Amino acid sequence: MNILILGSGGREHAFAWKLSQSTKLDKLFIAPGNAGTSNFGTNINISATDFESVKIEVLKNKINMVLVGPEDPLVNGIHDFFLSDSELRNIPVIGPQKDGAQLEGSKDFSKKFMIRHNIPTAQYQTFTKQTLSEGLKFLETLNPPYVLKADGLAAGKGVVIPATLNDAKAELTEMLANAKFGNASSKVVIEEFLQGIELSVFVLTDGNSYKILPSAKDYKRIGEGDTGLNTGGMGAVSPVPFADETFIKKVEERIIIPTINGLKEENINYKGFIFIGLMNMDGEPKVIEYNVRMGDPETETVIPRIKSDLIDLFQGVANGNLNEKTFETDTRFATTVMLVAGGYPEAFEKENVITGFDKVKDSIVFHAGTKEKDGSILTNGGRVIAITSFGVTMEESLKKSFANAECIHYKDKYYRKDIGIDLK
Ligand code: AMP
Ligand code: GLY
Repeated sequence: MNILILGSGGREHAFAWKLSQSTKLDKLFIAPGNAGTSNFGTNINISATDFESVKIEVLKNKINMVLVGPEDPLVNGIHDFFLSDSELRNIPVIGPQKDGAQLEGSKDFSKKFMIRHNIPTAQYQTFTKQTLSEGLKFLETLNPPYVLKADGLAAGKGVVIPATLNDAKAELTEMLANAKFGNASSKVVIEEFLQGIELSVFVLTDGNSYKILPSAKDYKRIGEGDTGLNTGGMGAVSPVPFADETFIKKVEERIIIPTINGLKEENINYKGFIFIGLMNMDGEPKVIEYNVRMGDPETETVIPRIKSDLIDLFQGVANGNLNEKTFETDTRFATTVMLVAGGYPEAFEKENVITGFDKVKDSIVFHAGTKEKDGSILTNGGRVIAITSFGVTMEESLKKSFANAECIHYKDKYYRKDIGIDLK
């Protein structure tokens, strides 16, 4: 079959790498893709949120299935667009429709959903411009630090955690009265700060049955020791050593099953990935957030650990028989180290030449922000290259990832050298 992947990051390169290993694949297309994805298929230079162009390419290239990488097309209704078009209706989309995508597209919706279905999460209240003064009073009843979340999508920047009451009040005012995040902060969720260690659990579902994918921990801050600004993710480790069978069982019983059942009860026909961001609070899982897609860079550690045919699993999602599909994982550790551009997540340069790919041994190189120009591979984003390695131990796997991170060169390369250190 012919498959189209929407997106352009390390996540999409990891999907392209995995799908190309399936005997069920004929042709792979990636829109817009990067310099790495073009080794596995044809890049199409259109935006993943330009649905009319997606339609033209799907019909032209006789696409049989669409895998949506990032959240924007899902929140904007790409799956609904396919279902409402007579020429696209029968082409399965892996990723939820607009109603299900609200789990990520609206923090207020996802909090209400968790409360309706008794899913453990932080206490919260939602405020608008009209209720700003109540919001300011509510902050006074909480202990620091304060967690403020813009309701809508804000390019990963919508969560702010001020340390003092004054800063929290100023931030809430900025978000609600001055529309700091535009329409995304027309509602703001204020919630209880959860103390613990974060991890992510990923689920693939056809709306009824589900497979629990390997767990992962990502490293969000730019600086070592989890300091500095938030990024898309600087590295990842899978499995998460403390997420043992007992912990995952609790996640399944208290979170995954009520989530799938809750979606069904609300007539939300959910087909795709659910990414559950969790806090482990002394062995008790609480949900920090849902995302309706795979994580990046978590995909670069999780997908290589899946031994089963991914197209077969996606067919199970599309046809509603995921329960009949075998699902096997590699017991080894996989770790990913993200190489980023100097300055990221603030201003950074683009179009610097990347070299050293031929020196990498025993790791998988996934491209993130890269492009090809006149025979050279150039940087084209803040996160540039993800290096993933396997190891029987986490240490062995990290050693390879760090060694190979040194083999890739471009101007002002930076990466965190402490990925996984907190898990040892
Ligand atoms: P999100 O955009 O929802 O992933 O939030 C960004 C980050 O903020 C999370 O990865 C957590 O590190 C942190 N965070 C969000 N909610 C809470 C909370 N209730 N307590 C503590 N940290 C949180
Ligand atoms: N790495 C976090 C995310 O993809 O949202």
